[in-house]
Amino acid sequence: MDIKTWLVFVSIAVALSIGGYALSTHWASPSTLNGKIQAYPDSHNTGKAYDAMSKQNAASKTLRQLVSPIPTQPNIDKEKAKIGWLLFKDPNLSSSGGVSCESCHDLRSNGAETTEVSVGVNGQGSRNSLTVFNVGFNYRFFWDGRANSLADQLDGPVHNVLEMDTNWSEITRYVRSSKRYPNMFGHVDLDINERNIKAVLVEFMLGLTTPSSPFDQYLLGNQSALNERQKRGWESFQHEGCINCHRGVNIGGGMVMRFGYFGENKIGENRTNDTGKHSSTQNTKDMYLFRVASLRNVAETAPYFHDGKTHSLREAIQIMAESQLGKTFDQQTTDDIYAFLTTLSGKRPSILEEFSNDSNR
Ligand code: HEC
Ligand code: HEC
Repeated sequence: MDIKTWLVFVSIAVALSIGGYALSTHWASPSTLNGKIQAYPDSHNTGKAYDAMSKQNAASKTLRQLVSPIPTQPNIDKEKAKIGWLLFKDPNLSSSGGVSCESCHDLRSNGAETTEVSVGVNGQGSRNSLTVFNVGFNYRFFWDGRANSLADQLDGPVHNVLEMDTNWSEITRYVRSSKRYPNMFGHVDLDINERNIKAVLVEFMLGLTTPSSPFDQYLLGNQSALNERQKRGWESFQHEGCINCHRGVNIGGGMVMRFGYFGENKIGENRTNDTGKHSSTQNTKDMYLFRVASLRNVAETAPYFHDGKTHSLREAIQIMAESQLGKTFDQQTTDDIYAFLTTLSGKRPSILEEFSNDSNR
C-alpha cells in the first residue's frame, strides 16, 4: 500500500469511528473529500452478494481494499432466481402488457439499453437505464441514490407511470392466475404475494454478476492481466482522485455526491436540468446530488451519465476530471484511464446461459 492509499484508508477508518456521517447530506469540496469519505453505509440490502464478498476479502491478505474483485460465483438460490428470471422477461407485468423489465435492461447485451433515456408504457422517460449487472454490489439505488435496498428499488419501475404503470396487487393477481408460476413458487415453498415476488426478482438480480474481468484477475495477483498502459491508467485513476468516489466492489455505487463540484458549466454540453436527489426530496441541499456510478463494464454501457447525453467514454473521463476534480487531463492521461476502464469488463452472468439452456431442454 503506498502512502496515499494508506491515508485514504485511515480517513475512512476515522470517518467510521466518528460514526460514518452521510456525505450525501453535506456539500463537501474535493479538498475535504478524504476526510469526509462516507464509509459504506449500514444498509443491509446487498445480503448474500455482500457476504460472498466479505468471505473473499477475509481470505485475501489485505482485509479492506479500496476496490475488490467480484466473487467468481454468485451465492444465490437458483430455483428462486429462475422464477425471477421468468418474471423479469414477462411483459404481462406491465399495464399495457407490452413492457417487461428486460425492455429497458437488456439481458442479451449489458443489462441496460443503448438509448439515451428509457421509454416505458407511455413512450417517454427522463433518465438513462442503469445496468442490472452487478447491481447486488451497490449500496444505493437509482441515479440519485434515493432507494437503499434492491427490494425498495423495485417499487420504482413498477409504479412509475413512465415505466410499467402498474401496482403489486395487479402483478400478484396475474402471477397467481398464470399457468406456469404457481407450480414454481410451490416448488420453493413460497406463497405468491408482493413480498415473495420481489424476493425472487431480487434473487435473480443478485445472480447477475460479471466476474473475472482482467482488472479482477490483476487484483487477485495476475500481473500480466493488464498491459503497461492499463496499469498506468489504474495508477492515474488512484492518484488523480477518481478512487475517492469510485470504490468498492463496483468501483462506485456506494455514495451520493454532487455532480459538478467545479461548476455546472463543467458537466458537459446540453445536460438536462435534472436536479438529482433534489428532484425526489425537494430539499435544496440535495441539489445535483447523484450516486457515484459503478464503473463495472463501463466500456459496454454507453451512453453515459444520468441523462445519457455523453456518448464517448473518453469524453466522460474528461468531464469527470473537470467537474469532479477541477483538472484538465492531457491526452495521455485520458487514454491511460480509458485503457484501464476497458479492463473492468467481466464475463457475462453465467446464470443467463444456464437458465436458457435449461428451458431449451
Ligand atoms: C421503461 C424502462 C424500464 C423498465 C420497464 C424497468 N426499468 Fe429498471 N430502470 C430504468 C431506469 C431509467 C432506471 C434508472 C432510474 C433512475 O435512476 O431514476 C432503472 C433502474 C433500475 C435499477 C437500479 C439499478 C441501480 O444500480 O441503482 C434496478 C435494480 C432496476 N431498474 C430493475 C428493474 C426491474 C426488476 C424491472 C421490472 C420489474 C425494471 N427495472 C423495469 C428503466 C426501466
Ligand atoms: C467527487 C466524486 C467523483 C469523482 C472524484 C469522480 N467521479 Fe465519476 N462519477 C461521480 C458521479 C456522482 C457520477 C454520476 C454522475 C451522473 O450522471 O449523475 C459519476 C459518473 C462517472 C462515469 C459515468 C458512468 C456511467 O455509467 O454513466 C464515469 C465514466 C466516471 N464517473 C469516471 C470517473 C473518472 C475516470 C474519474 C477520475 C478522473 C471520476 N469519475 C471521478 C462522482 C465522481
